[in-house]
Amino acid sequence: MKKAIVIGATSGIGKELAKLLIDNNYKVGITGRRTELLDELKKSNPKFFFIKTFDATDTKTSIDKLEELRSELGGLDLLILSSGTGHLNENLDFEIEKKVIDLNVTGFTNIINWTFNYFEKQKFGHLVAISSIAGIRGSREAPSYNATKAYQINYLEGLRQKVKKIEKPIFVTDIRPGLVDTDMAKGEGLFWVMPVKKVTKQIFKGIINKNKVVYITKRWGFIGRLLKIIPRFIYDRM
Ligand SMILES: NC(=O)c1ccc[n+]([C@@H]2O[C@H](COP(=O)([O-])OP(=O)(O)OC[C@H]3O[C@@H](n4cnc5c(N)ncnc54)[C@H](OP(=O)(O)O)[C@@H]3O)[C@@H](O)[C@H]2O)c1
Repeated sequence: MKKAIVIGATSGIGKELAKLLIDNNYKVGITGRRTELLDELKKSNPKFFFIKTFDATDTKTSIDKLEELRSELGGLDLLILSSGTGHLNENLDFEIEKKVIDLNVTGFTNIINWTFNYFEKQKFGHLVAISSIAGIRGSREAPSYNATKAYQINYLEGLRQKVKKIEKPIFVTDIRPGLVDTDMAKGEGLFWVMPVKKVTKQIFKGIINKNKVVYITKRWGFIGRLLKIIPRFIYDRM
């Protein structure tokens, strides 16, 4: 039986992916800060869900809990990093930006490093992170969100270069969704918001195929590619 960990499984994309993994015969470690939601999910399959509550911005505790979880699972084949945060912050309140950076950069790097180093040591494994199409260009409304997602995209690319040199079956998948109907994407004027189940099905397919970069969905992939080529003098006015 394969073993997976989903970071940020209390809601949204992470929760649905955790359920999909169970349906596909994985033992699944689930994490988040809200214990009651982890307990609720565990109730749906007490034998194969394993839970750990921690705040991913607390770097020391995160590693301690991940070590415990890996040992309870009896190993690790796949880790999906889905925890993330973002806020509209047009007034550039530093406390808001810091919260985003603490989770999307510091917490992300801490967990990614722990996982990659373990996979390198065991000579196999699959690391998946949910970045975002937002990482492709900057944002005047949520500068730290887009910037931290750009960091994630770039970091994962660096790891794929490392993997090439290691020449072992270690895979790094960068999932880049457009807008998804979760707690994170609430607000006015949102468009093409995708249902979570549709999104997670496509993510799971990308994981099974061991794809390097997956845009969710094709339509958002088109937007992503378009964003890349919009000249700066036009983008600055948008
Ligand atoms: N929704 C979208 O439109 C969209 C689009 C592109 C990319 N994404 C990315 O997809 C990922 C999942 O987001 P989602 O849409 O599924 O939103 P969500 O429902 O709000 O899920 C976020 C998850 O992150 C966890 N989390 C937040 N802060 C945490 C912390 N300090 N420590 C540990 N866990 C923490 C939350 O658990 P707790 O609160 O229990 O800790 C929750 O499980 C994020 O990285 C997001 O940037 C989302």
